[in-house]
Amino acid sequence: MPRLDVEKTLEDLTLGEKVALTAGIDFWHTAPIPRLNIPSLRMSDGPNGIRGTRFFNGVPAACVPCATALGATWDAALLHSIGRLIADEAIAKGAHIVLGPTINTQRSPLGGRGFESFAEDGVLSGTLAGHFCHGIQEKGVAATLKHFVCNDQEHQRTAVDSIVTGRALREIYLLPFQLALRICRTACVMTAYNKVNGVHVSEHEGFLIDILRSEWGWDGLVMSDWFGTYSTSDAIRAGLDLEMPGKTRWRGTALAHAVSANKVPEFVVDERVRNVLNLVNAVEPLGIPEKAAEKALNRPQDRALLRRAAAESVVLMKNEEKILPLSKEKSILVIGPNAKIAAYCGGGSASLDAYYTVSPWEGVSAQSKGAVSFSQGVYSFKDLPLLGPLLKTADGEKGFTFRVFNEPPSAADRELVDELHLVSSTGFLMDYVNPKIKSLTYYVDMEGFFTPDEDGVYDFGVTVVGTGQLFVDGELVVDNTTNQRHGSAFFGSATVEEKGAKQLKAGHTYRVLFQFGTAPTSDLDTRGVVVFGPGGFRFGASRRVAQEELISQAVSLAATASQVVLFAGLTDEWESEGYDREHMDLPPGSDELITRVLAVHPNAVVVIQSGTPVTMPWAPQTKALLQAWFGGNEGGNGIADVLYGEVNPSGKLPVTFPVRLQDNPSFLNFRCERGRVLYGEDVYVGYRYYEKTLLPPLFPFGHGLSYTSFARSDLTLTCCPEKPVYEESGEPITASVCVRNTGPVAGAETVQLWVVPPPTDVNRPVRELKGFTKVFLDAGEQKTVEIVVEKKLATSWWDEQREKWASEKGTYEVLVTGTGEETLRSSFDVQKTRYWVGL
Ligand code: BGC
Repeated sequence: MPRLDVEKTLEDLTLGEKVALTAGIDFWHTAPIPRLNIPSLRMSDGPNGIRGTRFFNGVPAACVPCATALGATWDAALLHSIGRLIADEAIAKGAHIVLGPTINTQRSPLGGRGFESFAEDGVLSGTLAGHFCHGIQEKGVAATLKHFVCNDQEHQRTAVDSIVTGRALREIYLLPFQLALRICRTACVMTAYNKVNGVHVSEHEGFLIDILRSEWGWDGLVMSDWFGTYSTSDAIRAGLDLEMPGKTRWRGTALAHAVSANKVPEFVVDERVRNVLNLVNAVEPLGIPEKAAEKALNRPQDRALLRRAAAESVVLMKNEEKILPLSKEKSILVIGPNAKIAAYCGGGSASLDAYYTVSPWEGVSAQSKGAVSFSQGVYSFKDLPLLGPLLKTADGEKGFTFRVFNEPPSAADRELVDELHLVSSTGFLMDYVNPKIKSLTYYVDMEGFFTPDEDGVYDFGVTVVGTGQLFVDGELVVDNTTNQRHGSAFFGSATVEEKGAKQLKAGHTYRVLFQFGTAPTSDLDTRGVVVFGPGGFRFGASRRVAQEELISQAVSLAATASQVVLFAGLTDEWESEGYDREHMDLPPGSDELITRVLAVHPNAVVVIQSGTPVTMPWAPQTKALLQAWFGGNEGGNGIADVLYGEVNPSGKLPVTFPVRLQDNPSFLNFRCERGRVLYGEDVYVGYRYYEKTLLPPLFPFGHGLSYTSFARSDLTLTCCPEKPVYEESGEPITASVCVRNTGPVAGAETVQLWVVPPPTDVNRPVRELKGFTKVFLDAGEQKTVEIVVEKKLATSWWDEQREKWASEKGTYEVLVTGTGEETLRSSFDVQKTRYWVGL
């Protein structure tokens, strides 16, 4: 496509065409105007991989570690490389625009999407996001910062009003966006679903025009979150360029009517369309054709990068008596609910079908030279495990047949409109298209054959956005069609899992038939949540087993094992978009399993996989503890690399791990109540709160050990003289520090720079992170590293009365920390109090 002359094109477009350009045409594409050479652009999620245009039965993709995992690397260069990989993956899927990164803030460990954002701190989150976006955009693909702003919980996310002070908005919630944009002017920003202080963000001129465009000078495209546009005139006047997804609800004829009634002046529509056309020009050099086929890349060099990222994200929380690394020569007993499943990413729009995954069990087995044995200990599924992979089709293939009809099962002579072969018995049909389907109401029969290995009572479960009945050999075992109860799956739009049971015999083959009707066949009340398209289904099954039996088996094996590693944690069922966690604990049984295994084998290594903090009541009893997140395709290999010392751990926590949920500063204010949530902890989010109140967390922000030791010395600060006019890029302060690897093995160190403000009449955090850098050192090696911070960013707080940042006169202490207790100190002065706004 030739490059557009934007102003000329604006003159040539009819009003109808302009209106069409301000909304998507389907879930993932903008509108084309072929007459004027305006192509349709494709967008795709998102933060940890590029799913492509199909949630349901799509083309697999690379899955990078979740954002909290990447946050734990504190490695801007790595994030840049990951961004480049994401861009290549987007190009392979024919996508011009990546719907990520997510840079909201983990106010609470309970946030369902906490795993999607890098950190509780804006400097860490914004810096990593900036480098990630730089990697994406360097390859010509557009990045999208989301969700702007204060979408920090899932509960009633479209309806909730986040009540936040101006100061907390600036110092905590807007800061990651501001800092990311300083590093990389992203092509797009996505608005949050929620209101902030009474106004939905997609209708908030103060955010979309005054801050983003006037104050920060940003000139990209603002799109709504999916179904997060709630008005015609208000949203477009406030600066919302693009309503997503299509078909439009608020633009189209409604917008044309609003323009003709002069509720929306045409020049406002022109401003929005100009941003769409500029985006078309920005991504035009990619040369991606319209309706591009979606391909899988899966290159060896990408696998190596993913493995490096997975290993670099692992945080060594404890390592008493140098239990770790483990010996490859000795035998090892692997225990736990997360051992044989690959918890590779969280749930919701960040989730995707990965090219392949590596479970911790597979990672350990591939590296151990001794015998590897296994004991389940407990299961940690929330809903029953998927039945699909255990089924066979009538032809004997793994999986089941998926037959689509326009008519319900009761209709005679139904015409089959589609037949697919599936393995996964969960599907979200929002972007499933078939021209023969006549409306949003249609029906699917899923049929497969199940031959159990063991006799016993089997539980079956059905979760639907729609209606579903599960039959085993013709007997109705689960009925989820009437009296439906609202649950959390499928972005919070589904029923709870309804269950039934049946006694089955080993070796006998049973016909399983699941009959599904799409969302309109259900009368479930889904107020406050986003319902995407025609609905979704999930069916699972499991043999009923006594938990005590499994735990006892694991404990008795652990008692005599030479090395034990126990994998527990969460999965995409527990942490997902659409709902928040109800508590901070591990799934039922896990704490008991860990406690009892540690009692008989005190050297057992505990590995926790979760996107956000969990309670660890047994932590004092552990000698060796790793936090391993959702590690992407290569998660299991990355963990095994650290367990066996192939990689020296260098991860540092990007979020505080409190002892108890009650200790978290948002504890009293984390749900939508009567339409609002009060951000009552103000600027005291995460470490700012624990340090101010002297409340010790279980593991602090920035914590992480290594198999080697590091020493820091010779801190010097070089400050440029203050300038009379406060310039954007002015007044760098350069901290130079000598870092030495004083231990026996090579390793990477993260050096953190904090600033302590002088006493003032404003309540401020004890200290705040202002800069960091990561350096790799061979054993015995020493290097001098530099961290550059800008004086105005390092000193300012947001003055609500003036509506400006305030850099107050005084002496600011600089603290430099890293692995271990040692803190280097220095200081610099601000000669004169000054106020400023801008990026
Ligand atoms: C999410 C966005 C995502 C979009 C498209 C929404 O539910 O909030 O982050 O990009 O869906 O999948």
